[in-house]
Amino acid sequence: MVQIVVVGCGWVGLATAVSLARAGHQVVCTDVDGNRVRELGAGRLPFFEPGLQEVFRQVLDDGCLEVTSDTAGAVGSTEFVFLCVGTPPREDGSMDNAHLVDAAHDVARGLGRSSGRTVVVTKSTVLPGTTEGVIRPILRKFVPAEVVGLAVNPEFLREGRALHDAEHPDRIVLGSDGQETSAAMRALHRGVACPVFETDLRTAEMIKYSTNAFLATKITFANELANLCQILGVSFDEVVRGLVLDPRANPQFLVPGVGFGGSCLPKDVRALTVAAQARGYDAELLKTVLALNEKQYLQAIRLLEKEVGSLREKRIALLGLTFKGGAGDIRGSRAIPLANGLLERGATVVVYDPVAVQDFLNAVPGVYAVSTLEEALRGADGCIVQADWPEFSSIAGQDFLRLMRTPVVVDCRRILDTERMSGIRLRRIGEP
Ligand code: UGA
Repeated sequence: MVQIVVVGCGWVGLATAVSLARAGHQVVCTDVDGNRVRELGAGRLPFFEPGLQEVFRQVLDDGCLEVTSDTAGAVGSTEFVFLCVGTPPREDGSMDNAHLVDAAHDVARGLGRSSGRTVVVTKSTVLPGTTEGVIRPILRKFVPAEVVGLAVNPEFLREGRALHDAEHPDRIVLGSDGQETSAAMRALHRGVACPVFETDLRTAEMIKYSTNAFLATKITFANELANLCQILGVSFDEVVRGLVLDPRANPQFLVPGVGFGGSCLPKDVRALTVAAQARGYDAELLKTVLALNEKQYLQAIRLLEKEVGSLREKRIALLGLTFKGGAGDIRGSRAIPLANGLLERGATVVVYDPVAVQDFLNAVPGVYAVSTLEEALRGADGCIVQADWPEFSSIAGQDFLRLMRTPVVVDCRRILDTERMSGIRLRRIGEP
């Protein structure tokens, strides 16, 4: 059993902490937000993440995990400290590492009182050079070099599947400052059945950005291809079936729609372009990915307008408000520009989501929120399915026909069963 402190109780921190506690380690989670710490202490998660709360309560009750706001006190004689605080975007898109700096100071003060060796692991998404250039100097002010190791171990978990991904990683990237740290990190991950890629700190940091930039680019490629297929009168789905026969292409992240959202892909790609600009390089491809993503939602509005005509005074149901189904998060959700675009065109926008209605109302106050799918569809002149929640995939054509005034449905996620849609004017991005 290893003593571990996890700093930052967001998605990454809590999924990491719970997975380490379930692997048999003694974990202390810390957060500067006293309210969050109190809620967590009572077994309540501050966000929606399927399955995580139950397991969190279990490890809390079993005494394998504690929560505190005293980071310095917690790190005393711990063997590993995982930094899992957020690195949100500043106004200009650059990465804000203020939380990381604060966390590093707290950790450094705590380690100043420690006797054994501790590995401080950056799990937060940080630009290359941050662990060496920002965290190391802070630690060095308080702690002698020989008692601290530095590692970078980026997370690749997806919201909605956070615990599963933390416990069943498909790869582990380990950046470290030398052999002693690397051996300690390998020992901690012993028994995890996946490839472990070892490298230096800076490269590990860049691998995280590269992965998200690649995913964002791949989705944007799918969106562009779908837009092209549509105007050229070809079925995108059919094209992709042929495309992925090339072993160099795989079908994941090739589902076209209204663009990528969330708290990671848009933020990380932007941070990379801003960091490049600051160093005199114009990252044109990634900037274009962001620009195209920004306006992809218009494709859904155009499809709707083709079927419904002017949207003025039309009642439009917008189903799914989070950035994807299964996640309770509206950050970066493409439902936001979609709803605003519909409102600008004079539509009455009726929104429904299984989880995030209240958050969405705060972001887009002009919409009309309802608490059931039926209410959203009743009397609607058109419907846009924005997020891939399972409950939407089971809607049958009969339901649309029974409830809507005009059965026009734009499926931005390809989740509706086309076989069950007779009588519906079903449109999908990328279909002629
Ligand atoms: C993403 C990455 O997938 C994780 O590997 C990474 O760890 C995480 O960011 C992070 O950096 O923390 P997540 O933000 O949970 O995870 O969301 P994804 O499942 O990647 O989806 C991102 C967006 O792309 C969503 O809006 C989704 O609907 C959209 N998407 C995804 C598509 O439009 N098409 C696709 O084919 C796939």
